[in-house]
Amino acid sequence: MDFKIQWFPGHMTKAKRMMETQLKLVDVVIEMLDARIPRSSTNPMLLEMLGNKPKLVALNKIDMADPVKTDTWLQIFKNNGLTVVKVDCATGKGIKQLISAVQEIAKPVSEKWAKKGVKNRPIRVMIVGVPNVGKSTLINRLVGKNKVIAADRPGVTRGQQWITIAKGLELLDTPGVLWPKFDDPEIGFCLAVTGAIKEEVFDREQAVMLLVEKLKINYSKEISDKYGAEILETDSAEDILRKIATARGCLKTGGIPDIEKVIQLVLRDFRTGRLGRFTLDNPDRK
Ligand code: G4P
Repeated sequence: MDFKIQWFPGHMTKAKRMMETQLKLVDVVIEMLDARIPRSSTNPMLLEMLGNKPKLVALNKIDMADPVKTDTWLQIFKNNGLTVVKVDCATGKGIKQLISAVQEIAKPVSEKWAKKGVKNRPIRVMIVGVPNVGKSTLINRLVGKNKVIAADRPGVTRGQQWITIAKGLELLDTPGVLWPKFDDPEIGFCLAVTGAIKEEVFDREQAVMLLVEKLKINYSKEISDKYGAEILETDSAEDILRKIATARGCLKTGGIPDIEKVIQLVLRDFRTGRLGRFTLDNPDRK
């Protein structure tokens, strides 16, 4: 796949430094992934930075992902020895299970302290993930009516606070932002169309063309039904966009399909989930 993103290495250095500082403050990390792109929304560098800290994977936006593929991904994570929980932070589904899972993976940490004679020390947690994956939405849900504790601890930047989210569990209210991996164009594309990368740094038209091509392979019927445009296997991405434009009345004077307009429409429908439930990262790709 040919897909380019204009990317400045300086951003990564800054994000990495910030993440390292934050990680020092916590015992457990929740890595939030987008269920539509579980492979592309992770960052292998996190594993290096974590050392021995326990990590839990929260597969978010399951309401927008293909449910069959989500379950396959879930099994893949489990087979790799990871603790993983499905969540839909938009509605709050799965959050109780998430808290129980955090308490479970934090047990070895508490036991270590108990052995040293330290009692009742809260477990500190933070949420990390690529932009737009839903970190703030989860934090807001977890904060709810819970108590906010002023940040009076060393190393905590002003403005950062701890929130008691369950008995003995404190959450850092500032999420850790993971930078996307850009070496693989396929990953860059997945991050771009799902909204993890700002539109100024990629070609929107190219991204939507690739999206349409990809959706045609696994979800042709869904697209045809959604837009009332019959899609054939032989159709190119441009043919499909033209058909959608015609079906949806995205036309310029003279009845010419308005490609720019239809590109915006498809991208918005995809990102909001109105187009359907799709998973772009195929679980069976090696
Ligand atoms: P971030 O902190 O990781 O950058 O992400 P943030 O929480 O800001 O969430 C990004 C967008 O994703 C928000 O939508 C949020 O509502 C949406 N979102 C979060 N979790 C879920 C989920 O499980 N399902 C769905 N469908 N959406 C989710 P937005 O349109 O950017 O903002 P808003 O209009 O909702 O405020």
